[in-house]
Amino acid sequence: MAKLIAGNWKMNGLLGSGKDLAQALAKRIRSMETNAEIAVFPPGPLIPPILRAVSDTSIWVGGQDCHWNGAGAHTGDVSAQLLADLGCSGVIVGHSERRADHAETDGQVKGKAEAALAAGLKVIVCVGETEAERDAGQMETVVRTQIDGSLPSGGTVDTVIVAYEPVWAIGTGRTPYLDEIGVMHSLIRNRAAGLVLGEGLRILYGGSVKPTNAKEILRIPGVDGALVGGASLTADDFWGIIESCP
Ligand code: PGA
Repeated sequence: MAKLIAGNWKMNGLLGSGKDLAQALAKRIRSMETNAEIAVFPPGPLIPPILRAVSDTSIWVGGQDCHWNGAGAHTGDVSAQLLADLGCSGVIVGHSERRADHAETDGQVKGKAEAALAAGLKVIVCVGETEAERDAGQMETVVRTQIDGSLPSGGTVDTVIVAYEPVWAIGTGRTPYLDEIGVMHSLIRNRAAGLVLGEGLRILYGGSVKPTNAKEILRIPGVDGALVGGASLTADDFWGIIESCP
């Protein structure tokens, strides 16, 4: 299966720079060969112009978060139904920045993932340990708990994707050893087996993926793609990662 390279723009970009980046990616994908599946997750208000910029390409667009309810009095939140209605194909839920900044619990993340599935979206569910949890030797327990508590009911390998993102590797330039990534991906795969229907759950690695380390990370058995933050903000870097796909 093609590797999924997903660009999480986080709270970056304005209308002009976001459109420029999307147009630069669209131009490359029209003119160059790639084996990868590509997705971008712009800030919410940028979704419509970015959808237009990539409309004649295979790049798909998603939201960075959604609410667990379909509609209602939730100031500042966005529903999965609205994302789907705009033309999004998926949504990220449970990113560690949402878990930390907004005190999101596994139960809420699960609710968001289920709302996404109900709206017909693919969902990328993020898990990963903090540095303190890792230092305390709790990384496997923490990630198992997050998998058990955050994955939606009723998901299949076509609709649910997991991203393993060690919190201490996000935006720091540090990454786990390659064999550690492989071990965590197989732990997640085993744990998720009873929760997501079907064979071949896609598990992305995220945390300081760059053009310089993407080749070795994307070759680790069990790594089905990457969730990329900082390096997804320039077309050259993001394309460098896309080109690193085996
Ligand atoms: P990073 O972010 O690539 O900047 O480390 C990854 C993420 O948070 O998804």
